[in-house]
Amino acid sequence: MILDLKEIYKNYNAGDLDVPVLKNINLQVKEGDYLSIMGPSGSGKSTLMNIIGLLDKPTSGTYLFDGIDVSDQNDKSLSAIRNKGIGFVFQNFNLMPRETALANVELPLLYAGVKKKQRREIAAAALEKVGLADRMKFFPTQLSGGQKQRVAIARAIVNSPKILLADEPTGALDSRSGEQVMELFSKLNGEGVTIVMITHEKIVADCADKIVVIYDGELSSLGEYNERMSRRRHGGEENE
Ligand SMILES: Nc1ncnc2c1ncn2[C@@H]1O[C@H](COP(=O)(O)OP(=O)(O)OP(=O)(O)O)[C@@H](O)[C@H]1O
Ligand SMILES: [Mg+2]
Repeated sequence: MILDLKEIYKNYNAGDLDVPVLKNINLQVKEGDYLSIMGPSGSGKSTLMNIIGLLDKPTSGTYLFDGIDVSDQNDKSLSAIRNKGIGFVFQNFNLMPRETALANVELPLLYAGVKKKQRREIAAAALEKVGLADRMKFFPTQLSGGQKQRVAIARAIVNSPKILLADEPTGALDSRSGEQVMELFSKLNGEGVTIVMITHEKIVADCADKIVVIYDGELSSLGEYNERMSRRRHGGEENE
C-alpha cells in the first residue's frame, strides 16, 4: 500500500473558532492505482492533498506512506520522503520562470545529488516522454499553458516517485490542452505510475479508474454521493 490514511481529522483555528475541515478520512491507494478525488470548492480537497503530500499534518489520525508512519517523522525526514517519493503537479504549474524547461525538470535530480551529465540525460528523457523534446531550451514564458503543465509533469516524474499527486492539473488549461494532460496521465499510469488527482470537474475525474468524492470534509463513493444528493432533491430534506 502506498497511501494508507486512517481516521484522519484536520481542524483549522480561525480566531476562537476551531473549524473542522477534514472528518474521519479513510483512504487507501495501492501501487498502480489511478484515483481521482472530486468535490466542490471549499470541501477540503487541497487540505487533503497537502496532508497526503506531507506538506501539512493532520490534527489526528494515522497516515502510513509506503508503510512508514509519517507522524513519527521529523521535518528533515519528511522532506526526504517527499523529495524521493512524491511528484507534485499544481494548477498553476509552479515552474521557475528564469530557468529553461530542461533546468526546471533537472531540479529534483539536483536535490537528489545526481551528477550534471546524468541529470541532463534523465531530464531530457522525461521531457521526451511528455512530448517536449523540441522545447527543452525554452523558458516558461515561451511555452503555452499545456506545454508548461507537461514540463511540470516531466519534473514530477523525473525522480521516479512512488506517487504522482496532482491538484487541479487542468484547472488553468483550455479544454484541448486539458485533454492532452489527461492523455499523458493515462499513458503514465499505463506504464505503472500511481496517480492521485484532485479536480472539481466530473469529466476530468472520469479519466481515473476510481473516483471518490469529498463533501464538507468527508469522503464517500461517487454512488453514495449521487444517492445522497438525489435524496436531498426529492426527499424533502432541507435544501442548501
Ligand atoms: N489555513 C487555513 N486556516 C483556516 N481555514 C482554512 C485554511 N486552509 C483552508 N481552510 C478552510 O478549509 C476549507 C477547505 O479548504 P480547501 O482549500 O481544502 O478546499 P478545496 O476543496 O481545495 O477548494 P477549491 O476547490 O476552492 O480549491 C475551507 O472552508 C477553508 O476556508
Ligand atoms: Mg483547492
